[in-house]
Amino acid sequence: MEDKKLIFSAIQPTGTFTLGNYIGAVRNWIPLQDEYNCIYCIADMHAITVRQEPAKLRQNTLAAYALLMACGIDPKKSILFIQSHVNTHALLNWVLCCNTQFGELSRMTQFKDKSQKHPDDVNAGLFTYPSLMAADILAYNADFVPVGVDQKQHLELARNIAQRFNQRYGDFFTLPEPYIMEVGAKIMSLQDPTKKMSKSDENPNSCILILDDKDTIIRKFKRAVTDSEAEIVYREGKDGINNLMSIYSAVTGKDYPEIEKEFAGKGYGDFKLAVGEAVADNLAPIRTEFDKLISDKAYLKQCYTEGAQQAYRYSSRIVSKVYHKAGFVDIK
Ligand code: TYM
Repeated sequence: MEDKKLIFSAIQPTGTFTLGNYIGAVRNWIPLQDEYNCIYCIADMHAITVRQEPAKLRQNTLAAYALLMACGIDPKKSILFIQSHVNTHALLNWVLCCNTQFGELSRMTQFKDKSQKHPDDVNAGLFTYPSLMAADILAYNADFVPVGVDQKQHLELARNIAQRFNQRYGDFFTLPEPYIMEVGAKIMSLQDPTKKMSKSDENPNSCILILDDKDTIIRKFKRAVTDSEAEIVYREGKDGINNLMSIYSAVTGKDYPEIEKEFAGKGYGDFKLAVGEAVADNLAPIRTEFDKLISDKAYLKQCYTEGAQQAYRYSSRIVSKVYHKAGFVDIK
């Protein structure tokens, strides 16, 4: 790989990506490919911290891989692979787990949320999930990690784990920096704009999926919860409108004052329609490209096989050094 800074990020294959995943993360991964060495991963091992139907997980993992390509991740520019194909993540995870404190993991808000949501399956994987996420990043010694705001706490923990390892065993890991966009880092639910937009939401109207068709997208935006003020301005307390403005800003590139000017004197109905249309136009090419890619399984297989080989080659060098530093006997 060229001598450039390294980017790592990943996404779980738990169904079609949401507009939140797209605006908060994936969309920002595309231009980085020209400036950095980029490594992107489908985090299927993270997905099984919540019970999954195996056949469905396999299908969702392939679809997520094709979807990242349809969004513009180019396997010729970036390393694009499936996490379970590259065993170095699990190997590093063990050493990192032994350098992660129970108290640190207990403080993770996502663990608290998910264990409340699935009280019958609070498994050890769900608890140690941030350590595997640290392994994903540290196995490549990544410099930057482009994510949405909800992953910030996990990233801070990854830095703490790296720092602890460096103190105990001598400087080795790069401390990864979060790379979080100002606009769109947290897209909210269309039905409850105080909650993050999430694919696990029970109300399908709360969430735009990036493969939704134009009519569905417009219908969901029309039903978006706003307020009774009939004023399109970005202001504290206007959660619904603020969310729509940040989505509109992210897909059109217009800033908030421009948007306020464009819709001055107009009603929420007009604004919602404009947001819906802009989003649908933005996503339309992804759907077309996805349909093409998902029907070419042989090409997908070739891409994820090569991606896994490249990721393994890169990370196994780092993980071997970590094993040596940890005091394990070298095998060669
Ligand atoms: P995941 O699969 O939940 O989400 C993937 C990316 O989408 C971002 N995101 C959002 N951004 C803005 N608004 C939203 N409503 C929204 N919902 C999701 C997330 O912040 C994330 O960037 N643990 C990770 C996957 C992962 C990972 C990693 C990420 C595994 N290993 C190593 C970075 C580095 C996760 O569950 O993301």
